[in-house]
Amino acid sequence: MLPSPVLSEVHAEAGGFSGLFTFRAPRYNRCLMIITIDGTVGSGKSTAAAHLARRLGAGHLDTGAMYRALTLKALQDGLDLEDPRALTEMAASSTVELDGEVGAQRVRLDGLDVTAAIRENRVSTHSHYVARTPGVREVLVAAQREFAARAGDVVAEGRDQGTMVFPDADVKFFLDADPEVRARRRQLELEERGQVRSYRDVLREITERDRRDITRDVSPLKAAADAVVVDTTDMTIEEMVDALAADVERSRKGSA
Ligand code: DC
Repeated sequence: MLPSPVLSEVHAEAGGFSGLFTFRAPRYNRCLMIITIDGTVGSGKSTAAAHLARRLGAGHLDTGAMYRALTLKALQDGLDLEDPRALTEMAASSTVELDGEVGAQRVRLDGLDVTAAIRENRVSTHSHYVARTPGVREVLVAAQREFAARAGDVVAEGRDQGTMVFPDADVKFFLDADPEVRARRRQLELEERGQVRSYRDVLREITERDRRDITRDVSPLKAAADAVVVDTTDMTIEEMVDALAADVERSRKGSA
């Protein structure tokens, strides 16, 4: 049995709209367009999602940040990461908030700013425990749908957004790139955060993280049948965003 559903609150500021969202709050905004971006580690999905959201004036739903916040809490609380019941109870009694500007999003866990802490390497390497737990996913998927229901246009980014969370999304993307290029990108990203890591370690780590995402039983990483698959190996961020935005525009015109 899941504990009572005061599960998560999500703040969003999107296209000039700002509000506090809880599971039980009344709806006061209609969802307009949902764009999903799923993909492998280092495929460029997070950066592309943030830029695309900004360009479209949409909300940016970084679902990985939610899994990271709960992983951080499990580590801080010393929970048994092999105990799905403990993880589910922890998820159901936690508050995860995403708020702030697109591209400069702040993440709060139980009211505390954990934006930097959730990017620590120990969180990256332990997040698969939380991510493979069905009860945790249930809690977070509900929060993600609630976010989308209230935030107007949304760019939702993660592993299962097009397949499980928003199967009826208006436009779906799946981003991937050669592992070597993804490892370089990830290494650079870590460096920018002051974490110096060898290329070989990073390559090994992202390969392992992808393997876990792809092979897990619950909501594995895969492209939705109707997703546009984008190989970003040779693309700059600007090229990625241009390509994605062009597809969104085509879809808008097609459905007008
Ligand atoms: O994208 P990321 O590295 O911030 O994701 C953190 C973890 O959460 C990673 O283990 C994959 C997992 N995740 C997931 O299972 N489903 C999502 N929709 C988003 C992330």
